[in-house]
Amino acid sequence: MILPDPQTILAELATCTTEDQLKDFFSTYLGKKGSVNGLFKQLKDLSPEEKKTKGQEIKALFDSVNNAFMSQQDEIKRAYRDQKLSEEIVDISTPSNPLPLGHANLQNQLRRTVEQIFQGMWFHIEYGHDLVDTFENFSSVNIPPTHPATEMHDTLYVNGESKEWQKLMMRTHTSAHQNELIRKYGPACKIMIPGKVYRNENLDASHDVAFWQVEWVVIDKWLSIGHLKGMMEQILQGILETDQVELRLRPAYFPFVEPGFEIDAKAQVWGKDKRLEILGAGMIHPSVLEQAGVDPNEYSGFAFGLGMTRLVAIRYGLSDIRLLTNGDLRFAKSF
Ligand code: DAH
Repeated sequence: MILPDPQTILAELATCTTEDQLKDFFSTYLGKKGSVNGLFKQLKDLSPEEKKTKGQEIKALFDSVNNAFMSQQDEIKRAYRDQKLSEEIVDISTPSNPLPLGHANLQNQLRRTVEQIFQGMWFHIEYGHDLVDTFENFSSVNIPPTHPATEMHDTLYVNGESKEWQKLMMRTHTSAHQNELIRKYGPACKIMIPGKVYRNENLDASHDVAFWQVEWVVIDKWLSIGHLKGMMEQILQGILETDQVELRLRPAYFPFVEPGFEIDAKAQVWGKDKRLEILGAGMIHPSVLEQAGVDPNEYSGFAFGLGMTRLVAIRYGLSDIRLLTNGDLRFAKSF
């Protein structure tokens, strides 16, 4: 029996560069039907002596081809993996495509600024809810539902079958939460209520069906119009970002305050001299306090309401307040 030359076999192995070629090589030489593996079967025809020597030679040949095969296989696998890794490389330092991020709209931006000012003055901030009942919106602040004052607030009622539903309405002012919140916190208390309010308006550049108001309620002993004016001045200075605010109080009728005022502020508003009519205010009416469980002989309070949407329109010189809500991205993105 003549054994094949291992050098020829190893030279052939060296030419294998792919896994397929390796597979073919394996079945030609090392597999069950492979020629090197097949040599073992021929041993059975030999004498016991020859079996021993030839057996060792065949084993040595088989081992050397098999070891070379294994390391060639490792080599090919490694080369394949290296190539894949270099092709699929992810460069984490490449800048990503920027995601379009939204931002708070102008009303929310100003609301947050105002909230910060009042948090600093230890006010509770409450948002109430958009749907209220007629007691909250009207009766609790001294406006019986049939009162002519309700006509100042063209109301959106809920269209419902039951008596309970018929009492529900979209709040027409943030004053609707005075009663509930005075009960919750007072007396004495300082509360700020920012919120959207709803009115059945004929829409135009300065009227929308919904707009933002902020309401403030302060209750303590010995409060006077002087306190009201002083606090108002400070507040407007904060909101308008100036220390030059001149207030003018004009008597006005609001059923929930006595006396009541409309307040104009003369101020340098972001660089321009302006007179703003943005606030309603007054000393809280004794019967409003009483309804909220506060003794008007012991405590007094003042309340004021600000049209936030108006203020935003003045601040940014908007020609139409509906720009704030109509979802036009060209407008929203410009701030
Ligand atoms: N609730 C009033 C409105 O919607 C605004 C207002 C006026 C609020 C006077 C007050 C106030 O607290 O004292 O027009």
